[in-house]
Amino acid sequence: MRLLVTGGAGFMGSNFIRFILSKYKEYEVVNLDKLTYAGNLDNLKDIEDNPRYSFVKGDIADPKIVSEVVPGVDAILNYAAETHVDRSIMWARDFAVTDVIGTLTLLEAVNTYKIPVMVQISTDEVFGSTEKGVFAEESPFLPNSPYSASKAGGDLMCRAFLKTYSTPVIVTHSVNFYGPYQYPEKVIPLFVTNLIEGKKVPLYGKGLNRRQWIYTEDHCRAVDVILHKGVAGEVYNITTGDEISNIELTKQILGELGKDKDSIEYVKDRPGHDFRYALTNDRLQDLGWSPETSFTEGVKKTVAWYRDNEWWWKKLKDAKYQEYYSKQYTER
Ligand code: NAD
Ligand code: TYD
Repeated sequence: MRLLVTGGAGFMGSNFIRFILSKYKEYEVVNLDKLTYAGNLDNLKDIEDNPRYSFVKGDIADPKIVSEVVPGVDAILNYAAETHVDRSIMWARDFAVTDVIGTLTLLEAVNTYKIPVMVQISTDEVFGSTEKGVFAEESPFLPNSPYSASKAGGDLMCRAFLKTYSTPVIVTHSVNFYGPYQYPEKVIPLFVTNLIEGKKVPLYGKGLNRRQWIYTEDHCRAVDVILHKGVAGEVYNITTGDEISNIELTKQILGELGKDKDSIEYVKDRPGHDFRYALTNDRLQDLGWSPETSFTEGVKKTVAWYRDNEWWWKKLKDAKYQEYYSKQYTER
């Protein structure tokens, strides 16, 4: 099999490429990535010389580059996206271009080059927030942030292509990911690296918002099962069911790093902050998947990885790096 993984230089895309190349010794992977602030070839240092891996720098919203990399692949896994809610509040337009138009461009290529399947990697955030309920695959979309609205737009484009052209596309909605190589803007790597640096952690509001969490390897295993056993045209939710409030999560991280609550700084809440996301995933379980890493165990592994890999994250937190990449948005 020859796979095109888009956004493969990001957090989960790079973990997936590593997982696939090690599990399937005959598979080839092409990685198409624009290398935004979140795309980092350091994530793939250990596999860059693998003869079954190749990298192409390019934008999924650019039909020309897409038409160069898509022909002949057996599947497309679309991990490429603008992904951070707080950035989407500042630069909504960039999110719409990549997450909607980028997805559309890939779907058009699936039709043109008759690609057997595309797997759209998406989020539980498209369903909006729920105080007590759980979202199933058919739940309506009620996105609240420019990020979740953009992802919902991409996912709806997948649905429209399926209905209109019978495009073979599978949509996945996942709960929050965490683990090695996650850019230190998302809550877990931000808090872990701040504490290693002796800084405080900025907890939004009262820290009562709730999320479900999935460790990298469990997510890679879920996408692997969906790619090989999933039904084209189907939607699959991905969750472990591990749910925790932000304050409980923070206390767990503080405990792992031997810090106390004095390291918490309660800061102004995120505008439109979704209170809670929660999913059911019966369809994925029917394919034979179940999680292997508990949240407690996953946090331990994640903290250990960030402790051992300061070379990877130190420069990403550097003010100059942040400034350089912010300009890519503001200068548009
Ligand atoms: P990330 O932000 O770490 O990486 C995104 C990657 O996409 C980067 O390498 C970036 O350079 C690349 N990219 C951005 N715009 C591009 C474009 N126009 N063309 C080509 N490449 C582009 O993302 P992640 O956290 O690994 O998320 C991967 C996918 O999973 C996304 O689609 C995201 O919406 C979805 N998702 C993420 C989470 C989470 O908790 N992080 C949860 C559920 C779903
Ligand atoms: P985040 O990692 O940005 O993921 P998402 O918003 O996509 O779920 O945030 C996870 C939770 O942590 C969310 O409720 C917001 C909260 N949070 C903080 O309290 N402080 C922070 O600095 C960040 C980045 C997030």
